[in-house]
Amino acid sequence: MTFDDILPTVRTILDERRGTLKSLEWLLINRDLYGRVRLIAPEAVQRQESVREFLEALATELPNRLGPHAYSAEAAILYEADRELACQGAPSIPIEDLGNVWLVDRLATEGNWAQIAPETQGPPRIVFFSIKGGVGRSTALAATAWWLAQAGKRVLVLDLDLESPGLSSSLLPPDRQPKYGITDWLVEDLVDNADVVFESLIATSGLSHDGEIYVVPAHGADPGEYVAKLGRVWMPKIRPDGTREPWSSRLQRLLQALVERLRPDVVLIDSRAGIDEVASACVTDLGANPVLLFALEGSQTWTGYRILFEHWRRAGVAELVRERLQLVAAVTPDTEARLNYLETLRENGYDLFASSLYDEIRPGEAVGDRWHFDAADDTAPHAPWEVRWHQSLAGLRSLHGRLTEIDANAVRTIFGPMIDGIVQTTGLENKNV
Ligand SMILES: Nc1ncnc2c1ncn2[C@@H]1O[C@H](COP(=O)(O)OP(=O)(O)OP(=O)(O)O)[C@@H](O)[C@H]1O
Ligand SMILES: [Mg+2]
Repeated sequence: MTFDDILPTVRTILDERRGTLKSLEWLLINRDLYGRVRLIAPEAVQRQESVREFLEALATELPNRLGPHAYSAEAAILYEADRELACQGAPSIPIEDLGNVWLVDRLATEGNWAQIAPETQGPPRIVFFSIKGGVGRSTALAATAWWLAQAGKRVLVLDLDLESPGLSSSLLPPDRQPKYGITDWLVEDLVDNADVVFESLIATSGLSHDGEIYVVPAHGADPGEYVAKLGRVWMPKIRPDGTREPWSSRLQRLLQALVERLRPDVVLIDSRAGIDEVASACVTDLGANPVLLFALEGSQTWTGYRILFEHWRRAGVAELVRERLQLVAAVTPDTEARLNYLETLRENGYDLFASSLYDEIRPGEAVGDRWHFDAADDTAPHAPWEVRWHQSLAGLRSLHGRLTEIDANAVRTIFGPMIDGIVQTTGLENKNV
């Protein structure tokens, strides 16, 4: 019995007793921080003898079948008046086929990846994410900001790669760096002091001629005690009434305030790479669309994305997340093999999406009735938007220096399909970009 056996086993135990289970209004499978399970049931059923007996039988069965992953029989069942309260702010995931049972998974980290915020109503938010680092995400973001600003847009750029910041230096020369950064705001907010830093978070980049690029960096010109601040940014805030505001809601609040203050046409967000807490906030909590998934062809890329996609599928949020995702072919090799490379990336992208997030097509069923794309469909999320490897961007000492002299042709050659994709999916095309 190891961690991955927990859910299948609990599901089997409950499935064997479906009859009585149905009479419960709700039942929570609470998996604690150590990976130990107990059940939480409504207080009211304690008065119903048959249900109580059923739960007591479960209490004995859980430690028998789950071994070290269960509480002892005496502690295996808790009673709570209210399902919401019992969750204590942790997300609950419905267990497929058992209509009234939810898993409450307590994680030691704040990022859970499984709660997908609805798409924002304000200016589009575009997240640049990748499962592996160093794939040209920040460079692509900077070039996109440059292009959109040249086309007259007001672009807000956020460096949320807090653990390895750097984007802002590609868009701002040292003398334009603002005094504070996102990390300062998140720390000051914990003690209700965020207003003091808010106006000094924003810099404007001199790179744009027609539009404007506003940059909110991870840290200010002087990072100060950056490590000490970084270690606190994930703290939830406890409000005076005792309720808890998770850190991703605080970040959401900051973004909202920036949007109201600057009125951008579009927000570009540089996310951390990998399955990380800050990345989880960027990808799932900020209402972004599209979320760009930068990918280099290779098994490390697909193994990583598959872990994430499977998590979404199991958590029952495939439908919420899949319409927002878009594969990007990162730094596509500039060789004769380029087209083959792109084709392999597309095929592997299709396998990934089709096996976890696309609807299955049963024999005889029309494809159009299901959310599914043909492998060769260029508009599908698995069909990569290409970014080309280009000599002029490789191993640069200063991307800012490069961007001050770059021209529209070069940007189009390297980033054209990705920029076109962004402009079309966000509807920015109707605004003369
Ligand atoms: N299109 C490109 N062609 C050639 N080199 C590139 C291209 N884009 C980025 N690079 C180079 O690749 C390196 C990594 O780029 P970048 O910092 O943008 O990646 P990243 O994905 O943001 O990395 P990290 O995960 O560290 O944030 C840099 O040296 C950059 O100059
Ligand atoms: Mg980066």
